[in-house]
Amino acid sequence: MKRLLRSLNGEAVWPPPVWLMRQAGRYLPEYRAVRAGVPDFIALCTTPDLAAEVTLQPIRRYGLDAAILFSDILILPWALGHGLAFKEGEGPVLPPLRGEAGVAALDPGRLIQKTQPVMETVRRVRAGLAAEGFGETALIGFAGAPFTVACYMVEGGGSKDFAAVRGMAYGQPALFGRLIDVLTEATITYLSAQVEAGAEVLMLFDSWAGVLSPRQFRAHVIGPARRIVAALKARHPDVPVIGFPRLAGILARDYAETGVDGIGIDTGSDIGAMAGLLPDRVAMQGNLDPLAVVAGGEAMRAETAGILAAMKGRRFIFNLGHGIVPQTPPEHVAALLDQVRAG
Ligand code: CP3
Repeated sequence: MKRLLRSLNGEAVWPPPVWLMRQAGRYLPEYRAVRAGVPDFIALCTTPDLAAEVTLQPIRRYGLDAAILFSDILILPWALGHGLAFKEGEGPVLPPLRGEAGVAALDPGRLIQKTQPVMETVRRVRAGLAAEGFGETALIGFAGAPFTVACYMVEGGGSKDFAAVRGMAYGQPALFGRLIDVLTEATITYLSAQVEAGAEVLMLFDSWAGVLSPRQFRAHVIGPARRIVAALKARHPDVPVIGFPRLAGILARDYAETGVDGIGIDTGSDIGAMAGLLPDRVAMQGNLDPLAVVAGGEAMRAETAGILAAMKGRRFIFNLGHGIVPQTPPEHVAALLDQVRAG
């Protein structure tokens, strides 16, 4: 069994399997070359030969333990008919979702058809990994978790304080509950299709989970994650699921009860302390600061050594605590991998 899958299935594999969030992206010159030839980011995500090519780029360079499907969490609302544009230097821009009409406009009926290019990408990556001799590299499919996707839909993009989405959750609870329900069902359909196309592991990105109060976290993060994991396990019992409730802090302990096989730990959490909080049946993944990889050298070495020392003997997958940033020198990633692979 591939090293990543062994770790998610209960084995304390050492040296730990390693991959990096946003491992395909603008820090790689070969990614920028492909990106320069497409009109926009959505076109890149929905053109299977290009999306498969950029998925494989970091694997060819570094031979990582996982490839992660090249797509975006906002492709799901886009496929449901919600508007989406990526503005240069601004990030995603969406029409802010308001009221019953906003939820009613979402059309789960178009999901399967609109995400055909994503499924084709998954098939091509699986074939490409085998054809290029990466027999140990597992393919991760993913989706944004309902709350984080709702954040972008209600805010109309990123936000400093997520006041609109948190305001809707408190002020219009029935409406917000319906939005989360629609996204939860769509996420199950979408992730299940990725498994059928060839994804071997699934990851649920809840990047903004930590902006919620504990009570709201239980309702809008843990509730949907539990439903998604249960539905996926019923259909695909052998496919492990990693949850990433970013900034959850101590609530990661409650999140472990959703049935996930692994939990991503963010940069600000003490991973050794988190290990004491989480049950042993859950693998931990994380949590080097992406800015330490920008710095490289002794700063990166010391941070990495601390994480490895804290996790030795436990089920662990080395990763960053958030996505790699565009200014990262690719040779720092190579040095990081040498250190991780030395255990
Ligand atoms: O990890 C990977 O290599 C796979 C691909 C992937 C992307 N986005 C590619 C991407 C994954 C897993 C994501 C997840 C994602 N997207 C999240 C969850 C993880 C996180 O970072 O918190 C979120 C919140 C998004 C939404 C999103 N997409 C934002 C806020 C932005 C703009 C910010 C930026 O870095 O420009 C994107 C665009 C995006 N998604 C890019 C990439 C490579 C950059 C776009 C480009 O190349 O022009």
